[in-house]
Order: sequence, then structure tokens, then C-alpha cells
Amino acid sequence: MFQRLRAFFGKTSALLPQALDTDNIPQHIAIIMDGNGRWAKNRGLPRIAGHHSGMKTVKRITMAADRLGVKYLTLYAFSTENWKRPKAEVEFLMKLPQQFLSIELKELIENNVQVRMMGYKEDLPSHTLEAVEEAVRQTAGNTGLVLNFALNYGSRKEMIGAVRQISEAVQAGRLAPQDIEDSHLAEHLLSAGIPDPDLLIRTSGELRLSNFMLWQLAYSEMWFTDVYWPEFTEEHFHDAVREYQRRARRYGGL
Ligand code: IPE
Ligand code: IPE
Ligand code: MG
Repeated sequence: MFQRLRAFFGKTSALLPQALDTDNIPQHIAIIMDGNGRWAKNRGLPRIAGHHSGMKTVKRITMAADRLGVKYLTLYAFSTENWKRPKAEVEFLMKLPQQFLSIELKELIENNVQVRMMGYKEDLPSHTLEAVEEAVRQTAGNTGLVLNFALNYGSRKEMIGAVRQISEAVQAGRLAPQDIEDSHLAEHLLSAGIPDPDLLIRTSGELRLSNFMLWQLAYSEMWFTDVYWPEFTEEHFHDAVREYQRRARRYGGL
């Protein structure tokens, strides 16, 4: 790992503010990729130009996370609330997974990346879902970075789903109410099997969660930047990890 990082930082390592601690890389990083529209507006471009540009950042940060040895990267790509946007913008956003995967899937496979999706499949257009499911199928056996797309994801809907499933188990007599534990809820969430994020990043200066992983982020470290997603670089990503490494995670203890 050290060699990999050395190779990656190369001769510029002296210029880095402070080297990253390779023994303390967050296992799971979740990102609220925000600010595409404002980035475009500032340049006099239509909002969709921002989404197009943001797709390049997805590639850049996926590769950066892979090089660092991050195990899970969850990217908030479309929320259950984003359907409220103008139809043309939603349609454009729904074409991005296909576009992204048609360009990048080959390289993701070469890098042993496993693609997953976390979200509600039923409302997605079939062309969007098929592209994602094909990528999931083709990378299912890969053992490297898990690239988890939160697509049509909403945390409250997710928690209600979990509560319903647990209620059914209770009603059927398979589970007693007093036996319900954290783990029961966690295993009925869309993130089942994935550890909670260690680090949450949100770009664009907004300081809110926007219905993203409310349960899973209970003890995550959070890092916010004013930088808009299309201009978020590997250096910014490293800044976030560096800051994470300075934090003391106490989980309520001392
Ligand atoms: C994030 O950028 C992408 C999605 C929410 C799909 P926005 O489209 O929210 O950009 P802003 O926040 O309006 O600038
Ligand atoms: C959150 O961003 C959703 C995604 C990044 C996919 P929004 O732009 O939708 O969030 P709000 O509306 O500003 O809270
Ligand atoms: Mg936004």
C-alpha cells in the first residue's frame, strides 16, 4: 500500500501539505455530490452542462478512492425528492448512468471495481435501470473498491421500508418487539451488508443531509466544502481524508 501511495504521489510528495496516514484511510466514504447546477449557472451554461461535467468528477474521485485503498464509495446521484425537478432535467439525469457506464465500465472492470446500486428501482426508466444492472452483473465478482450509486435513494423511505418489514416479522410472531435491535433495522436498509460511512463529504457549501443515509451517518465524520462538484478534485478529496485523520472518533465514550 505504501508503495502504491508513493508511486501515486511521486515526485510531488514534498509539495503535499501533509502526507496521508495509509493506516487510517476511511473504509467507507459517502459523498453528496452537489452544486452542478450552480457551477453551470456561474458559467452561463444550462444546468445540464453541470451534470455532464459532474460525471467527470465521478470518474476522477472513483479512481482517487481506489488508489487510496478506500473499500466503499457511496455517491448520492439522485434522491427520491429530485423527481420534483423539471422533466427535461430529470430526463437528462436519468441518461447519465448509461453514458457514464458506456464510457467507464471497461476501466472500472480493469481496476477490479464492483458497481452496486442503492435505491428504488421501480421508478427508474428501463434504460437507466438496465445500464446499471448490467454494470452490477458484470462487476459482481470484482473484489476491489465497491462503487455504490445512491440512485433514487431516500433515507426516510428506506427506514419506513425497514419498519414495515420488521412489523411484518412481529405480526407473524417471528420477532418480539422487545427483541428489536439496531442490527434488525440495519439489515433491512438498502445499505445492508455495507458498513456505515466513516466519512461524509458534501460539496457546494450546503450544510444539510438532504435525506441521505440518516441512520447510517449516526457516527460518521462530516466534511463540507464550498467547492462545486464539477470542480472537486483529487486534492480536495485528500483534504477531506486528511481532516478525517485529525479527528478523534469517540462514539460517546472518552
Ligand atoms: C447535484 O447538483 C446533482 C443532483 C442533485 C442530481 P445540483 O443539481 O443539486 O446542483 P445545484 O445544487 O442546483 O447547484
Ligand atoms: C442532494 O442534493 C441530492 C443529490 C446530491 C443527489 P439536492 O441538491 O437535491 O439537495 P437540496 O434540495 O439542496 O437539499
Ligand atoms: Mg443541489
